[in-house]
Amino acid sequence: VDLKDVVREWSGRLTLEQTLLKYLSIKEVIIVPGNVDTNKNAEMLLSQEAAKFLESILHDDKIIAVTGGSTIASISNFVHETTRWKNLMFIAARGGVGKDVSLQANTIASLFSNKMHGSYRTLYMPDSLSEEAYTTMKKEPFIQEMMDLYERTNIIIHGIGDAAEMARRRNSTEAEIDRLKEIGSVSEAFGYYFNDQGEAVHRIRTIGIQLKQLKNIEHLVAVAGGAKKAKALLSYFKQAPKQTVLVTDEGAANEMMKII
Ligand code: BG6
Repeated sequence: VDLKDVVREWSGRLTLEQTLLKYLSIKEVIIVPGNVDTNKNAEMLLSQEAAKFLESILHDDKIIAVTGGSTIASISNFVHETTRWKNLMFIAARGGVGKDVSLQANTIASLFSNKMHGSYRTLYMPDSLSEEAYTTMKKEPFIQEMMDLYERTNIIIHGIGDAAEMARRRNSTEAEIDRLKEIGSVSEAFGYYFNDQGEAVHRIRTIGIQLKQLKNIEHLVAVAGGAKKAKALLSYFKQAPKQTVLVTDEGAANEMMKII
């Protein structure tokens, strides 16, 4: 018997994982102690657990897409430096968000690939494009190449955000934020905004992985914690692909339980 499992059971986290797993109907739920909203240690545990999970599913020749955000950025600190896997390729799930380069998918893909001695592909472009730029860009060969990589992606590791918080981070105008509220946006992932029924109600005009492409990916690892994200998580998981594994914390899990 693993002592860690005993502690998990004793602390009730195992029961919480099982209850949430049934409710969200995904592949696995992993809960770490604490609440990342208020506790630095919980943030570290969340990243560590996600890094461990990622390492447990890696194989040679895999393509791993990563999104941006502080959670996924932090995971790259906890993966072990290794040459164990051959030919890993890390790719940005889409263009950058906001001004902070360190939180962009591009940067995070390069951090992972440095640690694991793989390669990486980036998408250097604004996160939100004008209609004209979007149509033109889509025809560019390097974008076509990226689209092809998305079709062949084996693993995706992604964050989930609260819709209002993400809109603020994207420097959306007050009018845009109001509009997002009006259409009922609760969560955001991959540049899509979802309502409380899990319907994609809006998408920022961005080049990146498409929602329909997620269905074909073998491993989806969603990492998001904190009580503040509970509503967003419930919204996103109304539609999440069944093969998703959620790594979260007690803060988010307990808050979700209060709502459901
Ligand atoms: C973004 C992802 O960069 O990170 C989003 O592309 C996600 O889809 C967000 O919602 C979450 O950010 P954080 O900092 O809360 O992990």
